[in-house]
Amino acid sequence: MNVIWARSAAILIFLALASSGLYFLVGPVPALAVMCVALLGLLLYYLYQINRLWKVLDAPAYGEIPSALGLWGEVYYRLHRLVKRWRTQVLQVEQQHTRFIQAIQASPNGVLMLDDADQIEWCNDVAEQHFGLNARRDVRQRITHLIRRPEFVQYLHLQRFDDPLLMRDMGEHKRSVIAVQILPYGENRKLVLTHDITKLENTEAMRRDFVANVSHELKTPLTVLTGFLETVRDLPVSEQDRNRYLDMMLVQSMRMQHLVEDLLVLAKLESDEQPPSPERIDMAELVGHLVHDAEALSQGGHQVSAQIDPAVVIRGAERELLSAFGNLVSNAVRYTPEGGRIGIALTYENEHAIFAVSDTGLGIAADHIPRLTERFYRVDRSRSRDTGGTGLGLAIVKHVLSRHHADLRITSEVGRGSVFRVVFPTDRSGYVPAAVPRPGQPPQKAA
Ligand SMILES: Nc1ncnc2c1ncn2[C@@H]1O[C@H](COP(=O)(O)OP(=O)(O)OP(=O)(O)O)[C@@H](O)[C@H]1O
Ligand SMILES: [Mg+2]
Repeated sequence: MNVIWARSAAILIFLALASSGLYFLVGPVPALAVMCVALLGLLLYYLYQINRLWKVLDAPAYGEIPSALGLWGEVYYRLHRLVKRWRTQVLQVEQQHTRFIQAIQASPNGVLMLDDADQIEWCNDVAEQHFGLNARRDVRQRITHLIRRPEFVQYLHLQRFDDPLLMRDMGEHKRSVIAVQILPYGENRKLVLTHDITKLENTEAMRRDFVANVSHELKTPLTVLTGFLETVRDLPVSEQDRNRYLDMMLVQSMRMQHLVEDLLVLAKLESDEQPPSPERIDMAELVGHLVHDAEALSQGGHQVSAQIDPAVVIRGAERELLSAFGNLVSNAVRYTPEGGRIGIALTYENEHAIFAVSDTGLGIAADHIPRLTERFYRVDRSRSRDTGGTGLGLAIVKHVLSRHHADLRITSEVGRGSVFRVVFPTDRSGYVPAAVPRPGQPPQKAA
């Protein structure tokens, strides 16, 4: 027997015993009257409690379950237990839902859910950015009313979702490339996933440009070489002409060799993940080499000078920095007409070592400067080629400097000259003035 039956039976038995007692004490009529009043009271109490229960069931709220004595107390206690269990379950589901939403929000990809009428049910922040939507405003809107690009509308309607759709000029600045993939699920619902592939596309474009540039750079000398070889093979040429052709062929093959060497240097720098050595570089010796190379290249055509502060310390990979600085110096010589001045300087300013190469040469127009370190970028292609340039020099410089966390700053004025400054970070540079030797002591070398 459950508690309801037990308690009801107890009340009824109590009433029956009480009215039997009254029957024997005061007679049947008063006993019947008391019994009727008690039953009526009980009925009214039950009606009152049923009314309370009704209100609770109409709008159940945790913490607002009434309390009562006896039988109704049991009923309310059980109801309270039920509501508590139900509330715990709801909280758990809410937490799971929140975690699920947080996980989707943390995704670098856009996620958008469409209902069976292609109306937006929900989307994360990334999808909002990719499509320029507003999740609050646009929810329950048909997606094709908001994204009207014909390729998207067609992709959605054709229902061929095996391959993703590439959408260009997307995002806030209309510069992103977005891959959109639709995945049908449930009852005619769709999950739209978006992925920003701008970087990937740029890398792919760079790769294509690179292959095209290398092929183009190799094609010209190879065509010249083939032409000369055919001439020498098929036509009777004088000894003098033959030697001239051989010299020209040598120039072309050296050009190809130069190109391949530069490409190998770039590839090596790109694949080298080891940071450059932290060893101190003997800058006096290095600048000595640079001046010597500049004079050899100039063959007396320029006035080359160097000014270095011996207290400036630079730490890094000597070979890499020699090749980078060498390119800056060779550029200065090659892009400065005869009679110009080339200056090499090493100074220390605001806790940074600065290596600078200045020239009084052709100068570079401002719009070319940001692109100079791109591979194969040349301001004047024919002039660079004439002087044996491949357009890879400053790309190598950029790589070497970025490995040393150093900056390249270029200032230039057309017709007046340029200054290429390399600013080293504090962890790769320093200033150690040589100690003044006491009389009778040899001078100490800076550490
Ligand atoms: N000091 C300079 N004065 C004027 N123009 C310069 C100077 N340095 C570089 N440039 C311009 O920048 C371009 C790119 O230079 P970079 O060193 O990368 O290639 P390059 O000198 O043409 O070939 P490479 O260095 O591979 O032999 C040059 O073609 C030239 O137009
Ligand atoms: Mg160069």
